[in-house]
Amino acid sequence: MNTLRRFVALCGLCSSCLAASGDAPARSDATFSIAFGSCGHQDHPLPIFNDVVKHRPDVFVFLGDNIYGDTDDMAVLRQKYRQLGSKPSYKNLKAHTEILATWDDHDYGRNDAGKDYPHKAGAKEAFLDFFEEPADSSRRDHEGIYHSVYRRVGDKTVQIILLDGRTFRDDLQRYGDQTDRPKRYFYNLDYAPHADPSKTLLGEQQWAWLAEELRQPADFRVIATGTQFGIEYNGYEAWANFPHERERMVRLITETQANRVLFISGDVHYAEISKFEQPGCYPLYDLTASGLSQTWKFATPNRNRIEGPIMDNHFGLLTVDFTAGHAHAKAEIWDIRGNQRVEHTIPFAEISFAGD
Ligand SMILES: [Fe+2]
Repeated sequence: MNTLRRFVALCGLCSSCLAASGDAPARSDATFSIAFGSCGHQDHPLPIFNDVVKHRPDVFVFLGDNIYGDTDDMAVLRQKYRQLGSKPSYKNLKAHTEILATWDDHDYGRNDAGKDYPHKAGAKEAFLDFFEEPADSSRRDHEGIYHSVYRRVGDKTVQIILLDGRTFRDDLQRYGDQTDRPKRYFYNLDYAPHADPSKTLLGEQQWAWLAEELRQPADFRVIATGTQFGIEYNGYEAWANFPHERERMVRLITETQANRVLFISGDVHYAEISKFEQPGCYPLYDLTASGLSQTWKFATPNRNRIEGPIMDNHFGLLTVDFTAGHAHAKAEIWDIRGNQRVEHTIPFAEISFAGD
């Protein structure tokens, strides 16, 4: 429960005074809810944030393309952040909900950019300043913006890991000649999977940090990544372009025996849930919510897709319920018209190693 709602509950005030609508579902103290989304253009009014507030999540996670910066001029980048920050809907979100963020390419500064983007240090400062990262935060002391937070729910701990898929990422490999493209891809493929295992997405420094994070005690872990983790290769940018890095993630989760890890991702301008299954590990779910204001014309083939695609503007909502006896996570997608488009329940037992 977020601090403001807890305060209001203690005061005995009507909690509906906090939100534009009283239609939020009843919640128990054993739950923690994470709203999430990506790809909102600063030129758009972004009314979706008002819908997020109605659900009264404990936290909102921005998954990247939080603005469309696309510039080498850091003054322009900061101005675009100010444009986002001045929106009434964003102010409403900020007033009622804790905000966490990672970035993707467009707010990093350039489409599909990686470690060679020349202004990444300046872009990091602009990002951290806008999202009000404290001056003494460890996030300001290392290269990149990876970070983790821990939130208590009764005697349980939720860990939210924010990955940086830009600062250390090697160049993508161009797909090239389309004449040998498999028939199921009805569009031009931008990138091919890397065959060279030295090519990295997270970089060694971030991998070492992540290994330590996964060894910290937590009862539920959410890993936020700008690009999709669990989809099948589709020729666009995703973890599937670094298959050895995705295998490394599975290996790390298996080695650390980190239970109840679930991914949230953005980037593609539609919503879907992917279920990535690998031997020796429980299924790794990837909840994609991408389209705070952006849309895309089509969804790519994805054999791992179990829900969606949702092509309308939307946000995601993950509710973690620790209630003894039926502990589970509920994944939802809500569209801009207030419709629940996806509801998918994942029992804790399904995303735990045997014996836990
Ligand atoms: Fe985007």
